[in-house]
Amino acid sequence: MISPSQSKQGQLQSSQLEIRRMRAPDVAGVMEIESVSFGRHHWSEESFYNEMNNHVGRYYSLVQAGSPELLGYCGFWMILDEAHITTIAVRPEFRGNALGELLLLHILERSMSSSIHWATLEVRSSNYNAQNLYYKYGFNSMGVRPRYYQDNQEDALIMTTSDICSAAYRARFQQLKSALQQRLSGLPQGYGV
Ligand SMILES: CC(C)(COP(=O)(O)OP(=O)(O)OC[C@H]1O[C@@H](n2cnc3c(N)ncnc32)[C@H](O)[C@@H]1OP(=O)(O)O)[C@@H](O)C(=O)NCCC(=O)NCCS
Repeated sequence: MISPSQSKQGQLQSSQLEIRRMRAPDVAGVMEIESVSFGRHHWSEESFYNEMNNHVGRYYSLVQAGSPELLGYCGFWMILDEAHITTIAVRPEFRGNALGELLLLHILERSMSSSIHWATLEVRSSNYNAQNLYYKYGFNSMGVRPRYYQDNQEDALIMTTSDICSAAYRARFQQLKSALQQRLSGLPQGYGV
């Protein structure tokens, strides 16, 4: 079993990880992470069950290989040539180990292989950690949805990539992917599938 202390020492490796489609039994673990990640504004269990049946939705769980323990999850909608990222979160004890980056990379890889050209999302204006992750992957802030979050009336930044199928984007993506592969000693089972 991967322990949080192990993760903080940066020893997580791809062989210990697996990405797979989210399943109903994952929802209990998702709710544990939701409540500590998104406060009162978090999605309900019902939202996740609905999203797993949404024909444009793609939801993934990041688990310990061969174990149901949930380390993180992500989801997006495939709408024509756009990937709208709806959620991404990592269990707090395991943050800072490139798992959020792995989940974002997985979404972008899946999107590229489905000939999607743009990725977009909303993020709280105060959520600098997530914004840094998105900037790293070429998202830019394209505008603001004022008072988008109902719990505290916080603004959302709308962040969008350039064309992820362009040669320039793919070259940058490959560099980042190689660096991540080196950090995790490979990519986990299920990545990009
Ligand atoms: C945002 C989140 C998914 C990042 O996951 P993570 O596994 O901790 O992040 P990673 O270790 O993969 O970091 C990847 C990049 O994110 C940014 N980042 C992550 N944590 C950061 C921090 N504490 N300070 C600054 N930048 C940070 C950096 O750009 C980092 O790249 P680097 O390692 O080259 O510096 C995680 O913090 C989380 O679950 N937050 C709560 C849920 C949430 O806010 N989701 C986003 C909703 S829009």
